[in-house]
Amino acid sequence: MDIQVRHDAVMSTIEQITSLGANLHELETREKIRKLLENLAIQSDLFPEEDFKPRPGASGGLYELYVAPDRSLSLYASAGASGKYQPPHDHTTWAVIAGIRGIERNQFFECLERDDATSSGTIRFVRDAEVGPGQSVTLAADEFHTIAVDEGGDALHLHLYGNALDTLVGRIGFESETGGQFKRFMAKPMTFAPWVTQDELEQMESDGKALTILSFTLGDLCMAVGGAGLQPGDRIVLIDAQSQNDSAAEEQVRALQRKGFHNIAVLKPVN
Ligand SMILES: [Fe+2]
Repeated sequence: MDIQVRHDAVMSTIEQITSLGANLHELETREKIRKLLENLAIQSDLFPEEDFKPRPGASGGLYELYVAPDRSLSLYASAGASGKYQPPHDHTTWAVIAGIRGIERNQFFECLERDDATSSGTIRFVRDAEVGPGQSVTLAADEFHTIAVDEGGDALHLHLYGNALDTLVGRIGFESETGGQFKRFMAKPMTFAPWVTQDELEQMESDGKALTILSFTLGDLCMAVGGAGLQPGDRIVLIDAQSQNDSAAEEQVRALQRKGFHNIAVLKPVN
């Protein structure tokens, strides 16, 4: 998989979405966005299973594909391990979810009452929906939902939000499907860049297109980025030259994401 091809498809979808106007939160517009996101999601070759797995030892992983410079729109590929369940939570902004692979069962809830002093409230089930490949759902800012990934295989879904996730500091999650106590939800989202395999990297190295490979040891990448004159949108692969564990790469990825780089991937460690 050439990450440039994926990046071009993502940016084309984003441009089509932003051309719908300023009122993306309105239901009528979100219905149009659903179709655009479904069109991206059905191109599953752009999102190889190998490169978008749940993070090692985790039930999921959030791969950042795009964040608008003003942080008013964001797109992630959300990997969910077989059997993963996410209790009721809100987003505090509108959302559209479209399926690439696997089935994500959504239950939607409305909040009947909420007491911030006691961090408790009541929610009520409204409807459910199954989001399989090429299917989608949309949520309003005040809707709550649960997510359950079917057993039998990992899932991958596109999640589009009306703001960058790290700006959504007021989200809450309830302890049960009737409400009860709530806590802040995903106050500090952990985002990642997709992996590339050694084979994918070798193909990109020989395709004649611009490719920047940042091979680094912990701590020296910022200097490399500053010195290389890189632009957001440049095709970049990070290689952690020091260890077989790419946890150092994760930190560098977030530094790059904060600078607006999204056409990036990390060479997958060989275990
Ligand atoms: Fe959600």
